[in-house]
Amino acid sequence: MASFRTLDDIGEVRGRRVLVREDLNVPMADGRVTDDTRLRAAVPTVAELADRGAIVLVLAHIGRPRAPTPDHSTARVARPFEDVLGRPVRFIDWEGAAGAVAALRPGDVALLENTRFLAGEETNDPQVVQRVAALGDLYVNDAFSAAHRAHASTEGLAHVLPAFAGRAMEAELKALGKALGDPEHPLVAVVGGAKVSTKIDVLRNLVGKVDHLIIGGGMANTFLAARGVAIGRSLAEREMTDTASDILVAAERANCTVHLPYDVMVAKELAPSPPSLRTCNVHEIAGDEMILDLGPAAVEALADVLKVCRTLVWNGPLGAFETPPFETATVALARTAAALTQEGGLVSVAGGGDTVAALNLAGVVDDFTFVSTAGGAFLEWMEGKDLPGVKALELD
Ligand code: 3PG
Ligand code: MG
Repeated sequence: MASFRTLDDIGEVRGRRVLVREDLNVPMADGRVTDDTRLRAAVPTVAELADRGAIVLVLAHIGRPRAPTPDHSTARVARPFEDVLGRPVRFIDWEGAAGAVAALRPGDVALLENTRFLAGEETNDPQVVQRVAALGDLYVNDAFSAAHRAHASTEGLAHVLPAFAGRAMEAELKALGKALGDPEHPLVAVVGGAKVSTKIDVLRNLVGKVDHLIIGGGMANTFLAARGVAIGRSLAEREMTDTASDILVAAERANCTVHLPYDVMVAKELAPSPPSLRTCNVHEIAGDEMILDLGPAAVEALADVLKVCRTLVWNGPLGAFETPPFETATVALARTAAALTQEGGLVSVAGGGDTVAALNLAGVVDDFTFVSTAGGAFLEWMEGKDLPGVKALELD
């Protein structure tokens, strides 16, 4: 794994202005934060730097604003962040930022306005990089989940200021490196979710790396269709069956065993416990039924796969987990993974928005070796791509 500098290497920071890129892009409803995971992830780095006497200048984005709007202002998360941090957070607008920063004292924490309000942030414009860099002496990137963006605040700054990985970034890079970079074999990947089309590159990369590939969710239906299984009214991308077949061929060449369900839960409608719910073999699906989850025999077989593996990477639910009882397979397999991890036999890494929601439902987030806070960045990492924000931190 490439090496990078961390807060252990940053030296004396007392009185120095440290620009810290965090991902505070949290879901909100009626002005309240509905999931503060990312706020909490930012705490160790910000608190450590403030404790060490730095002037901490937090950079963050909210949403994808086309123009500045109050709804996208980071001022909205200043109070919630202050609450989880347990110390005051001053909000600083871009207008007059230099003066406001100059008034800060060692140990102070400030949150700057949405980086995406700066025209040129997203194009990594050198003038914007210079403008932001002028506010600080050092740069810390702690936002793995925004590291797939080559923006001024996620990438550009690393080239003009001494650059370091924050504690959350460091933990992500270590855990992910252990899972796909230099894993203990056998290595298994669970890939679920609705669509093959959004995960083609993930699947192509994985078949060359993993020993076992478990495909679930709506994606599995497309693979079943590619194998000639009649899947009734199941969600599938019929135009992707050739791609699915290609992936199966590539897997076979690479000695990667692909696991598709052989029993499933089906129903005539997606609704909580529908009257038409039944479990059947994949070859017995009626024309008016749809696959909504894996069946118990499949879950048991997949648990056996996990038991012989040393490393697991998981992205995406196995069924329509938001509608009961179609979370059953995801919850059961997640609990198996969690138990194996706790027994010490398995290194388990998971990521992606829906995945974290599913693991929360199973109550096992804390029992996995590592759960990433990243969505898009986690997928790009699974695709084997270089993430610009990470690349910029690497030492050659
Ligand atoms: C996210 O929520 O996935 C990150 O904050 C990155 O946001 P983006 O996809 O708008 O770049
Ligand atoms: Mg995203």
